[in-house]
Amino acid sequence: NIPPGPAPLPIIGNCGYFLVPKFILKWIRRYKYGDDGSKRRMQSPQVLLTELAEVYGAVYSVFIGSQLVVILTGYDAVRDALTNHAEVFSDRPDVPVISMLTKRRGIVFAPYGQVWRQQRRFCHAALRSFGLGKLSLEPCIQEEVLLVKRELLQLSVEVGWGAIDPAHLINGAVSNVICSLSFGRRFQPLDDEFRAMLDLMSRGLEIVMNSAAILINVFPWLYYLPFGVFKEVRTVESRITRFLKAMIAEHRSSLDPSAPRDLIDMYLIEMAQQQERGPTDSSFSEDYLFYIIGDLFIAGTDTTTNTILWILLYMSLYPDVQEKVHQEIDSVVPVGRAPSLTDKARLPYTEASIMEVQRMTAVVPLAIPHMASQTTEFRGYTIPRGTVIFPNLWSVHRDPAVWEKPDVFNPSRFLDSNGEVQRREHFLPFGIGRRVCMGEQLAKMELFLMFTGLMQAFTFRLPEGAALPAMDGRFGLTLAPFPYSLRVTPRHGPPA
Ligand code: HEM
Repeated sequence: NIPPGPAPLPIIGNCGYFLVPKFILKWIRRYKYGDDGSKRRMQSPQVLLTELAEVYGAVYSVFIGSQLVVILTGYDAVRDALTNHAEVFSDRPDVPVISMLTKRRGIVFAPYGQVWRQQRRFCHAALRSFGLGKLSLEPCIQEEVLLVKRELLQLSVEVGWGAIDPAHLINGAVSNVICSLSFGRRFQPLDDEFRAMLDLMSRGLEIVMNSAAILINVFPWLYYLPFGVFKEVRTVESRITRFLKAMIAEHRSSLDPSAPRDLIDMYLIEMAQQQERGPTDSSFSEDYLFYIIGDLFIAGTDTTTNTILWILLYMSLYPDVQEKVHQEIDSVVPVGRAPSLTDKARLPYTEASIMEVQRMTAVVPLAIPHMASQTTEFRGYTIPRGTVIFPNLWSVHRDPAVWEKPDVFNPSRFLDSNGEVQRREHFLPFGIGRRVCMGEQLAKMELFLMFTGLMQAFTFRLPEGAALPAMDGRFGLTLAPFPYSLRVTPRHGPPA
C-alpha cells in the first residue's frame, strides 16, 4: 500500500521526460499547443510536482529509475512527517555520486545517527558564537557590504550607468563570510586562489547535479573513467581537497588554544580535548573537519547568494515596495552609518519584505532529500525502508489553505495590525524538524545586513524595455533566478 502516483516506465521510472531528446519534446509541444508551442517553456519541476498532488494527494510517489520517492506536499504533510515522525524521516539517502565525494561525512549528507548528532551539536553551538560577542561576524558582513557597494558603483560608472549583473559580486561577498567563519580570513575578490576555489566548488555542484556524471548513480564504476566529466569530477575533488587540507594544516601549526580565531580552531581544540579525556566514541578528527568545511560552503553560499539575488530582482519589479523599504531605512538609520542588527526591531517592513521574497521563491524548493530509515505507516500508506522523501517546501509556501492569494507578492502579510513582524509557522524556507538548516541564524544575519546595506545606498531598477526574467527560476539543489542585469543608482552619493 505505497502512496499512489503516476505509473512508472520500466527501468527509467517516471524520469522519461529527462531522457527524451529535446527535438522530440519540441515536436510534442508544437503538436499540443499549436505553432507557438515549441517555444513554450517546460514547467518547473517544483510547480509540476505541486500540481501532481492535485491528482494524487498530499502524499504521493514517483520512481526515479527503480528508486521509490515519496513527495510530501503542503504544510500538514511536511510538518507531520518531519516533526511527528522525525525518528524515521530524518535520514539521508546514499546517492552514489554524492557519497563518493563526501564519504557520507560532514553534516548535510551524513546518515542520521550518533556521529551526525555529535558533529551537528558542536557546529551548531560554534555557529552561535559567530552571532554575538568577540567572534561576531557582523562587522565582517558589514565590511563585505561596503566592498560590494563600492564595486557596484565602480562597475556602474564603467558601463555609463547602464545595467550590470550583480551575481558575481554577491557570490564573492557571501563566500567571503563563510571564509571568515571557517578560515578566519577573507580573500580579495580578484585573488586567483580564491576565485579558482569558488569556481571549482560551483563547477563541482554543477557537474554532480546537471551533467552525465549523474550516471555515476546508476553505474558507480563510471567515476573511475579517465575522460570527460568523470575525470573532471575527480580533478575538482582533488584540487578542493588540496586547498582545504592546506588550510587545516596551516591552522594546526599556528593554533593558540586560548584564542580560537575561527571554526577550524574551535574544532581542533574540541578534538584535542576529547583525545585528552581518553578513548571514547568521539567522531572528531581532522578528516571529518575537512568534510564539515566543505559542507559549510555547499550549504551556505548558493542558498544565501540566490536569496539576495531574488530580493534585488523583486525590489526592481516592485518599485513601490522598494520605496517603502527606502523610507523605513532612512527613518531609522542615519545616512553614513551602516545598518546593524540592533536596527532590526525598528525595520519591520524591511524584514517582512525579506521574508516575503523567501516565501515566494523557497530557495531550497525540495529541501535536501530525506530517507525513511525503517518501514513505517504514514497517513494510511506504507513507506518502505530506504524510500527517498522530498518535502516540497515550495508547495508549503504556495499552499492556498494557509496563505491568502499565495501567488501575490505582498510583504504586509508578515505584519500584524500594529505593523510588527508576525512569525508564521507555515513559513519554512529553512525546513523543519531535526534536519532544519543549521545556518539559519547566520543566514538571517547576512540577508538582513546585506539587504539593508544595499537598500540604504542604492535604488535598483530593471533597464527600460528589458524583458522580464521568468520568475519560476532555475531549478537545482537551490532555486536560482535566471541571470539578469539591473541599473544601480546611488541614493546619497558614493559609499563611504
Ligand atoms: C540544510 C535552507 C543558509 C548550513 C538546509 C535545508 C534547507 C536550508 C531548506 C534542508 C533542510 C532539510 O533537509 O530538511 C537554507 C537557506 C539558506 C541557508 C534558505 C539561506 C538563505 C545556510 C548557511 C549555512 C547552512 C549560511 C551554514 C553556514 C546548512 C546545513 C544543513 C542545511 C549544515 C544540513 C543540516 C542537516 O542535514 O542536519 N538549509 N540554508 N545553511 N543548511 Fe541551510
